[in-house]
Amino acid sequence: YGDPSQKIDYVFKVVLIGDSAVGKSQILARYARNEFSLDSKATIGVEFQTRTLVIEHKSVKAQIWDTAGQERYRAVTSAYYRGAVGAMLVYDITKRQTFDHIPRWLEELRGHADKNIVIILIGNKSDLENQREVPTEDAKEFAQKEGLFFLETSALEATNVETAFLTVLTEIF
Ligand code: GTP
Ligand code: MG
Repeated sequence: YGDPSQKIDYVFKVVLIGDSAVGKSQILARYARNEFSLDSKATIGVEFQTRTLVIEHKSVKAQIWDTAGQERYRAVTSAYYRGAVGAMLVYDITKRQTFDHIPRWLEELRGHADKNIVIILIGNKSDLENQREVPTEDAKEFAQKEGLFFLETSALEATNVETAFLTVLTEIF
């Protein structure tokens, strides 16, 4: 996961947003450290992790920011979005409400971030298919209407996590 001695050509800031407990921190843990925890604590304030990758022979450092979904634990919004070139808008496929809140998150994002920011909609916890409350088609349709990329992921099973980040980072590049 990235050679620290490597010279960095680009640093891309990507922000994770979405309701509490949708799995933002575990998506990040999976991507940055290939780790996953079932008893993950709610995030307080802001955390970030990095992973360096190579895109078209250039080394790109992805600096991924993670904040609390819970309003009372959130940090200053404008600072969080400042300089972000990518965003992952996450909901939980087993909790309809987390998908119904996506338009609000999108509104906040569009209100604070650069207008050229690359956005991907992510339906996480695809491993819990038997508890699904959000049909894939609903999300696909919403993403299409809003001009967002879309993928379903599982941080637990490591499904599509890599692809989700690559989609955003390659598009930024
Ligand atoms: P806040 O920090 O409060 O905003 O929450 P969060 O979005 O960061 O959620 P977090 O990553 O802490 O995950 C919440 C819970 O969902 C934890 O119990 C995780 O283990 C679990 N979880 C996260 N991703 C998955 C997944 O892909 N599948 C399953 N089954 N559980 C997951
Ligand atoms: Mg968190």
